Amino acid sequence: MTSGAITAPSPASAAAPTPQRIGVPRETFPGEKRVATVPDVVGKLVKLGFGVVVETGAGERADLSDGAYREAGASIAASAAELWASADIVFKVRPPTPEEVVLMRAGQTLIGFVWPAQNPELMQQLAARKVTVLAIDALPRTLSRAQKMDALTSMAGVSGYRAVVEAANAFGRFFNGQITAAGKVPPAKVFIAGAGVAGLAAIGAAASLGAIVRANDTRAEVADQVVSLGGEFVKVDYEEEGSGGGGYAKVMSEGFQAAQRAMYAQQAKECDIIITTALIPGKPAPRLITAEMVQSMKPGSVIVDMAAEQGGNCELTVPGEAVVRHGVTIVGYTDLASRMAFQSSTLYGTNLFRLTEELCKTKDGVIHVNMQDDAIRGLTVIKDGEITWPAPPIAAAPKPAPKPAAPVAEKKGGHGHGSSGPLPAKTLAVIFGLGALAFWAIGAYAPAAFLGHFTVFVLACFIGYMVVWNVTPALHTPLMSVTNAISSIIVIGALVQILPPEAGSNGRPDALIQWLAFAGIVLTAVNMFGGFAVTRRMLAMFRK
Ligand code: NAI
Repeated sequence: MTSGAITAPSPASAAAPTPQRIGVPRETFPGEKRVATVPDVVGKLVKLGFGVVVETGAGERADLSDGAYREAGASIAASAAELWASADIVFKVRPPTPEEVVLMRAGQTLIGFVWPAQNPELMQQLAARKVTVLAIDALPRTLSRAQKMDALTSMAGVSGYRAVVEAANAFGRFFNGQITAAGKVPPAKVFIAGAGVAGLAAIGAAASLGAIVRANDTRAEVADQVVSLGGEFVKVDYEEEGSGGGGYAKVMSEGFQAAQRAMYAQQAKECDIIITTALIPGKPAPRLITAEMVQSMKPGSVIVDMAAEQGGNCELTVPGEAVVRHGVTIVGYTDLASRMAFQSSTLYGTNLFRLTEELCKTKDGVIHVNMQDDAIRGLTVIKDGEITWPAPPIAAAPKPAPKPAAPVAEKKGGHGHGSSGPLPAKTLAVIFGLGALAFWAIGAYAPAAFLGHFTVFVLACFIGYMVVWNVTPALHTPLMSVTNAISSIIVIGALVQILPPEAGSNGRPDALIQWLAFAGIVLTAVNMFGGFAVTRRMLAMFRK
């Protein structure tokens, strides 16, 4: 299975840096099926200038063969030892085991889930190997440009979806309501506790299967997102703000918790399926579903406790297992993402590729860990053997310096549609002067009838300009708003030509003008309604 082409990396020369080799080992954690890169991503890494080496069988459990990796441009290492020895950068999913840590050598870079807070011993072991470690779980999630690298989000999304699939598997009924010849089947009622990333994915999946979905979260701001995914937000009858900053929740007061327990007890009685995803980072999972609530559920009901690894949101959860208690199946699997190995490996591989792009802006196959970059600094937990975790908090973006007050005469020119600023007063004066001169010349030499038409034309241009450019782009993009405004003016002009003349006016325009006006109305209508249709389609792409 070996490629036979693997050699130790040569030292980098100062003139042209030797491209680095990215190694992808087979995950050794029991039951882990994911792999840190997929053939589609290998091709992109090769384009960035890197060599890629994959341990034989690394993608097997995600339905990715050695052949597929080889075809994409990777070489295959026969063993873990060979892989770790030949790689400059190692992509992993799970934190490295002690056996893997000893295979690392000084100067190597490891990228993957590390969980530095939970694994202080591992951090010491890695630092002793004088390596650099980028923990993908330590990525500052509040930075919007870091979203493309956010593996926690992509894994939670896959897991939320899988939680619904597991619930459907354990549930002995349809999710959607049905009317069959044999009788009527009511839709299943699903309650989701915690509407973060995993919870929202679960809401979307359960709603698309046709269930009645309800959800609760301590952060009131997620209510709209719940509704937009087809769920109903169930409020706790107690006023308290649940946001703890940075998009995460805070621990709630005793009073709130009591009111929340009462509401959850009611939902447990009414719902067939409960999926719990409630979590406050760094804290044990809040206990939301008590043994009595489980007992009060209908026989055959299902609970999927996604927070099983952090102690569980349900009192009766057994982490890693599916158990039946009081006639209710309680699923406590802690490997939901791994249960969709191909999907999660593809998303994870793409997250790591996006990170590699950030680390190798020169596209020469060599990474540069830039500690001045907030995102890179956040996830660099060890730099050349020195523990750099936790990263200092990211400073808030500096407020833009107040602009010096512009002279009043110049302030009036701009109208906010990307103009490069008001024209200087002198230039304006020259333009007006030339305009007045041209107008005088036309008045002096052109026929009198022309002057009347010309005045109307100039005024129409001015009014049209003011009307179009002052349209607020509230509905669509600014470009669409402006083109729609122009189209509306054209339609009004064309209607004036087509409609019957008012009493006392010069009469109906000739047939040619009427036909031209009609054509104008048809064409602008196509433009306007086409614009609305395109917008509808674009919006539909973001709806489920
Ligand atoms: P998240 O932080 O995005 O969402 C957690 C949500 O819970 C937040 O919206 C928060 O406001 C809410 N919450 C906190 N305390 C609450 C309370 N007392 N009542 C109601 N809501 C509360 O986290 P994410 O990424 O959605 O993950 C959710 C859970 O799923 C975590 O426990 C995570 O470890 C777990 N997970 C489990 C996997 C598995 O295989 N079992 C895989 C991926 C994630």
